[in-house]
Amino acid sequence: MRRAVCPGSFDPVTHGHIDIVGRAAKLFDEVVVAVGVNASKNRLFTAEERIEMLREACAGMANVTVSSFSGLIVDFCREIDAQAIVKGLRGGNDYEYELPMAQMNSHLTGVETVFVPTTAALGYVSSSLVKEVATFGGDVTGLVPDAVLARLTTRLAERA
Ligand code: PNS
Repeated sequence: MRRAVCPGSFDPVTHGHIDIVGRAAKLFDEVVVAVGVNASKNRLFTAEERIEMLREACAGMANVTVSSFSGLIVDFCREIDAQAIVKGLRGGNDYEYELPMAQMNSHLTGVETVFVPTTAALGYVSSSLVKEVATFGGDVTGLVPDAVLARLTTRLAERA
């Protein structure tokens, strides 16, 4: 049984994330999408909300589950017996950022990181850009699932 973890903040989940999770699900027997819960970070959505949105988004993927973790990702991987971490790469900046983390995680426990290139059409999509554009009234339709768009609109209105 080959099990992989797709970790991230998912604040909120985008079609870029869903693309990577779906492709990881074709490479591994099981994929666990792991929402990082770090109390010191300021998020737009709570961990519970992020998990709920991910569960809705991944509902059609039979071998994908959604969970959360705190602390080190390598400890979570060991806990659930995952052999690999899957990360999407949009370009060189992502690679520069992800490579030392992959090397550190490999050093810590030997867990492998598998980089999957983002589908070209989604290469500009990130949670932070989606939030920024939506905050200033830009249209992010099609970049996140409709249910996420609805929650995003509501949350930003509450915050305004
Ligand atoms: O979506 P993000 O914000 O890029 O996700 C980053 C995340 C949560 C995957 C990363 O920060 C992480 O793995 N955090 C857990 C803490 C940890 O293991 N840090 C050491 C990494 S070498």
